[in-house]
Amino acid sequence: MLMLATFVILIASFFSFYLANGILKQKKISKITYDFINNMTHELKTPISTISLSTDVLLNAEETSKNERLSRYLSIIKTENKRLENQVERVLQIAKLDKGVIKLKFESLDIHEVIETCISTFSVPVKDRNGKIVSHLNASKTHIKGDVIHITNIIYNLFDNANKYSPEKPNITITTVNTDDKIELRIADNGIGIKKEDSKQIFDKFYRVPTGDVHNVKGFGLGLYYVKQMIEKHGGGIEIESKIGKGSTFVLTFPVTTN
Ligand SMILES: Nc1ncnc2c1ncn2[C@@H]1O[C@H](COP(=O)(O)OP(=O)(O)OP(=O)(O)O)[C@@H](O)[C@H]1O
Ligand SMILES: [Mg+2]
Repeated sequence: MLMLATFVILIASFFSFYLANGILKQKKISKITYDFINNMTHELKTPISTISLSTDVLLNAEETSKNERLSRYLSIIKTENKRLENQVERVLQIAKLDKGVIKLKFESLDIHEVIETCISTFSVPVKDRNGKIVSHLNASKTHIKGDVIHITNIIYNLFDNANKYSPEKPNITITTVNTDDKIELRIADNGIGIKKEDSKQIFDKFYRVPTGDVHNVKGFGLGLYYVKQMIEKHGGGIEIESKIGKGSTFVLTFPVTTN
């Protein structure tokens, strides 16, 4: 009996040690990864802001206003540099999200106002492709407790996907309705759609629906991971309804507040 008990205790101690060791190793790796991303993104931010400042100086110079070709190329540098800055910021945000160090600034906000702002910003790239964004803002209770920056990013990410994954003219519709004490946002597109088996994974970090050897549409596979995590931090949820070849609808719900 004594031998059996000793044996069981030894086995249990071994597994506990093994498990604790694994958890410690995992924690160490995630700390190293976070520190690396943090350092790398900060290292990238310095040259990006130097390029931005220098480009502004050149764009405002007198010689530039006289030279159309120069000002066109400088504008391209400025736009692409801004894009690079946004991508670096996105990677940093995801690392912070995983580390749990993102601090949300909750305030009462009218989600219809946020949607209108996103539509006016995003109409530009959509119109460039001869597409349109239509809104049916039917909800009457529209205030939620949220962080305006992150709610904007959520809608922006979904508009970005709707545009990116619509090979024809993008036709994006955003609808809101109230259900009980919630507001439901539906963002629909006429894009390539997602198969049921893929739709289970699209909210995973780095997941992109496989398209054979080439990905003709570029991305990190981080957008929907961020969207889901952030919606959950706001006490909401996200679901997808999609038909391959017909389009996708992302359904978001947020609890509404009384003021
Ligand atoms: N509206 C959509 N229509 C069809 N497929 C979509 C749509 N939105 C997302 N997907 C699929 O889900 C995958 C994950 O989307 P997600 O936004 O997380 O990443 P991404 O767009 O590839 O890259 P990122 O957003 O980081 O630039 C996409 O790669 C795409 O395959
Ligand atoms: Mg995306």
